[in-house]
Amino acid sequence: MKKAWWKEAVVYQIYPRSFADSNGDGIGDLRGIIEHLDYLENLGVDVIWLSPVYASPNADNGYDISDYYAIMEDFGNMDDFDELLQKAHEHHLKIVMDLVANHTSDEHQWFINSKKSKDNPYHDYYIWKDQPNNWGSVFGGSAWQYDENLNQYYLHNFAIKQPDLNWENPKVREGIYKMMKWWCDKGIDGFRMDVISMISKDQSFPDGPVPEGSEYGDGTPYVVDGPRIHEFLQEMNHEVLSKYDLFTVGEAPGIPVDRALKYVDGDRHELEMLFTFDHVSLDGGEYGKWSDKRTDLVDLKKTLMKWIKACEKNAWNSLYLDNHDQPRAVSRFGDDREEYREMSAKCLALTLHMMRGTPYVYQGEELGMTNYQFTSIDECRDIEEINTYKDLVDDRHIYTGEQMLRYISSKGRDNARTPMQWNDHDQAGFSSGTPWINVNPNYKTINAAAQVDDENSIYNFYKELIKLRHTYDVIVYGDMELLEPDSHELFAFTRTLGDQTLTVLANWTDHEVTHNIPVSGQILIANDEELIPHKLKPYQAIALISNK
Ligand code: GLC
Ligand code: CA
Repeated sequence: MKKAWWKEAVVYQIYPRSFADSNGDGIGDLRGIIEHLDYLENLGVDVIWLSPVYASPNADNGYDISDYYAIMEDFGNMDDFDELLQKAHEHHLKIVMDLVANHTSDEHQWFINSKKSKDNPYHDYYIWKDQPNNWGSVFGGSAWQYDENLNQYYLHNFAIKQPDLNWENPKVREGIYKMMKWWCDKGIDGFRMDVISMISKDQSFPDGPVPEGSEYGDGTPYVVDGPRIHEFLQEMNHEVLSKYDLFTVGEAPGIPVDRALKYVDGDRHELEMLFTFDHVSLDGGEYGKWSDKRTDLVDLKKTLMKWIKACEKNAWNSLYLDNHDQPRAVSRFGDDREEYREMSAKCLALTLHMMRGTPYVYQGEELGMTNYQFTSIDECRDIEEINTYKDLVDDRHIYTGEQMLRYISSKGRDNARTPMQWNDHDQAGFSSGTPWINVNPNYKTINAAAQVDDENSIYNFYKELIKLRHTYDVIVYGDMELLEPDSHELFAFTRTLGDQTLTVLANWTDHEVTHNIPVSGQILIANDEELIPHKLKPYQAIALISNK
């Protein structure tokens, strides 16, 4: 396996709106991030992935960009960005930008021109049809929006305010590549590419199969992993990516392993890593992700291993348990009850960070931040939650409000978006004003100030895990094999490189478990170092290293 800096890196994701508010308007901003670079450097991560900071009317919190060359006013300005980039580099932190190129905002100049007339040179920058097909949008409703002036419909796979770009048009691609180069020339270190697997659409735009209980057809077979996707990515690589030393990770929901590998195959010159979704799609309900079901551990292990194994030969994997679109890891996969929260957060962290691939830490995960209990839809800010509540509760009466709020509190995206908990002061030290979304009331006990100097804290456990990854090649490059794959309680595996073997034993339950795995070697890290032969305490997790 060829070595590369991005294979050895640990990434920290910042959702700027919720990270730190420097000026008291209730919204996180770039200066807020600058103020906390010491915290990140101390944690030891290598890369910051910034969720979008570009100009945006915020229909989808920045994933609807109105100007790729400007900073969202709420977040500051380009001088703040330049300062952030420079100071981050001084703190040995690289900056990876979010690239949202499947769609723009309907307030982007391209779209404003596009809808002026059918013969406007920008009309063909987006996907217009005289008749819509039956596709539904990811955020509910039809994926087509009627425009009276043109008497045509435009495609929006996400919100109405997020029209899809027409990648068939070479001018669109040129425009995107030019913008990417502009950011690279500024000195950024890479891109996380938003729903990049959706940029090539089947040009016949056929109706999709209508899932049971849905009013709309499923367009994904014609949108995801479309006919020209690899041609576009190779072109992008040739025009932009190959000219710089970049970190690239593509968000790629809904693609089976064999096809996904083509995006990241070491010889194909497309992307370096993908975010796949199989492992975060195991606990859904009848209507998509909305449920309070838990993920079965055997399914989870199998799913993660499938991707890790596939990448072993000539590709690279990314490792994550949460992000800005997912609920909090400790609430979803661990146990956020007071007596287990700390142990289980460390257990998840140890498991993930000892696996093969590049690990991602989502802001607050390193503190064991938990889901929020939403008691009214008025507390929700996420367009997906709000649209779904309207559809499933108000319009179709499929769930009661109470049920839906339970599902939102369990799977909704706002769980990840409550403000970062810095200390036990008012508003968790996030803002001196009123935050745009409620702070989780548990900030009094769960916060950074309480953890940074406590050597037994979750934060310092992450710090230790990151340091180990930077020290032991076996953690980065070693082959991985599951142990007791059919255990519903134990997440155990080995990593092997040369004559070094790492053994990882993690009890993912709240009770003691017994096992038959022979244990030898020296403890590298553990959330409880007491080794009882063939037994693990609740949420106990241990990594041992041995040489042949
Ligand atoms: C991606 C982003 C998500 C956004 C969507 C549309 O899935 O992660 O936050 O809503 O794309 O841009
Ligand atoms: Ca602010």
